[in-house]
Amino acid sequence: MTTRILTGITTTGTPHLGNYAGAIRPAIVASRDPQADSFYFLADYHALIKCDDPARIQRSRLEIAATWLACGLDADKATFYRQSDIPEIPELTWLLTCVSAKGLLNRAHAYKASVDKNVEAGEDPDAGVTMGLYSYPVLMAADILMFNAHKVPVGRDQIQHVEMARDIGQRFNHLFGNGKELFTLPEVVIEEDVATLPGLDGRKMSKSYDNTIPLFGSAKQLKDAVARIVTDSRAPGEPKDPDNSHLFTLYQAFSTHEQQAAFRAELLGGLAWGEAKQRLFELLDKELGEARERYHALITRPADLEDILLAGAAKARRIATPFLGELRESVGLRSFREQVQVASEGKKKAAKAARFVSFREDDGFRFRLLDAAGEQLLLSIAFADGKAAGQVTKRLQAEELDLHAELNAFSVRLDGEAVAYSPEFSTDAERDAAMQRLREALAPQE
Ligand code: TRP
Repeated sequence: MTTRILTGITTTGTPHLGNYAGAIRPAIVASRDPQADSFYFLADYHALIKCDDPARIQRSRLEIAATWLACGLDADKATFYRQSDIPEIPELTWLLTCVSAKGLLNRAHAYKASVDKNVEAGEDPDAGVTMGLYSYPVLMAADILMFNAHKVPVGRDQIQHVEMARDIGQRFNHLFGNGKELFTLPEVVIEEDVATLPGLDGRKMSKSYDNTIPLFGSAKQLKDAVARIVTDSRAPGEPKDPDNSHLFTLYQAFSTHEQQAAFRAELLGGLAWGEAKQRLFELLDKELGEARERYHALITRPADLEDILLAGAAKARRIATPFLGELRESVGLRSFREQVQVASEGKKKAAKAARFVSFREDDGFRFRLLDAAGEQLLLSIAFADGKAAGQVTKRLQAEELDLHAELNAFSVRLDGEAVAYSPEFSTDAERDAAMQRLREALAPQE
C-alpha cells in the first residue's frame, strides 16, 4: 500500500540554503520512494494571510515553483500544484469551518501570539488580527483532509495545526460519516535528523535574522554570501576548531564523510579562513550549480511553469472534485433533481428514525419501539424466540395498525391479540396524541 505524504510550502520569500537542506532536499528524496504518493503544493492562500504585496506574492510563487522543479522534483510522479488552483479547497474550508469549535481556534499558537503581543502593548487584544490568521488552521485542515493524506511532514511550529486537522476531521466524520470514515486522520511527521543550518552569523538560518545564503543567486552572489560568514579571528596557520565553527557545520551538510574528515584535518592544521571559505564555496557551487542553471531556465519560461502547475492541479482535482461532491452530499447539499427520491427517503428516514430494539429477558424475547429522540413508544409482550419477535416487528411496519385504548395506555394488536403496549399517559389527550404519532412513525411506505 502506498502512503500519501502531503505538505504545503507557504509562498512568501525566496528559498535559501536553509530551506533547501531542511525541507526541499528531504522532501524530494522522500518523493522518490516507490511507496510514496507525494502531494506537494504551494500554499499561496496561506501566503495571503501574511502578505498584502501582490508583486511579492507572485514573485515568490514563481521562485518556489521553479526551485522545487530545479532541485529535481518529478512532477509526473508527485502531484505538484498551487493551492489556489483547487477551488475545492476553499469550499471544503467552509464545510470544515462550520464544524470547527471557535474555542479550538482560540488556542492556536499563531493567533495567541498576536493576542499576547497586543495585550503586552496595551492594545485591543485583536488589533491587526484578521479572520485569515484566525482561521489559518481550518484552511490547513482542508489542504490535508481534501486528499486524505496519511502523513504530513512539517516543522515543529506546525505540529499543532496538524493536530487540529485531526480534530476537525474527526468531528466531521462523526457528524456526517454515518459510521464511515469520510476523512483519513493525518499523522504529523517531524524529521528529527533533518539539518537545521546555521546562517552567516551562526544563529539558525532564517529570513527573519537576515543571515541567509541565497539558494539560486549567481555564483558571485553565493561567493559573496560565503565571504560574509562570521568566523573567529584566528590567523592563517593557527589551528581552527571545526566543532565551534558554523562554517564547518555548513560544510558538513553538503559533503561526504571523507570530505568532512579531510576538511576537519585541514582546519586543525591551520588552514586560513579565507581558504576555508573558498572550499565551502566550491562545495556549494558543485552541489547547486546544475540546479541553478535549471532554475534560471525555468524562471525565464514562466508559461512552461504555468503549464506544469496547471497539469498538477488537474491531477489533484481528479481526486478533489468527486470527493467534494461526496462531502457536499453528506452535509445535505444535494441536487434537487433527486428531490423526489430524497423526499420519500426523508419519509422513510422519519419512519426509520423510530426504531425497534429487541432484547432478551428471563421470560423470553421482547422489543421496544423508540422514537427519534429515544423515547419509548411501545414495549412488546414476551415472545418464545427472537424470530417470533422479529416477525411481529415486520408486520407492524407493513400492516394497518390495530390500536386499542386501555385506560391510560394503549395496546397494539395483531390477529386480535395484544402484542405490545404503550407507556402510561397522564391524560387521554396525551394518549391519543401518542397513538397518532405511532401511526405516523409506522405508516407503510408507498
Ligand atoms: N502552514 C504551513 C507552514 O507555514 C504550510 C502549509 C499550508 C501546510 N498548508 C499545509 C503544511 C498543509 C502541511 C500541510 O509551514
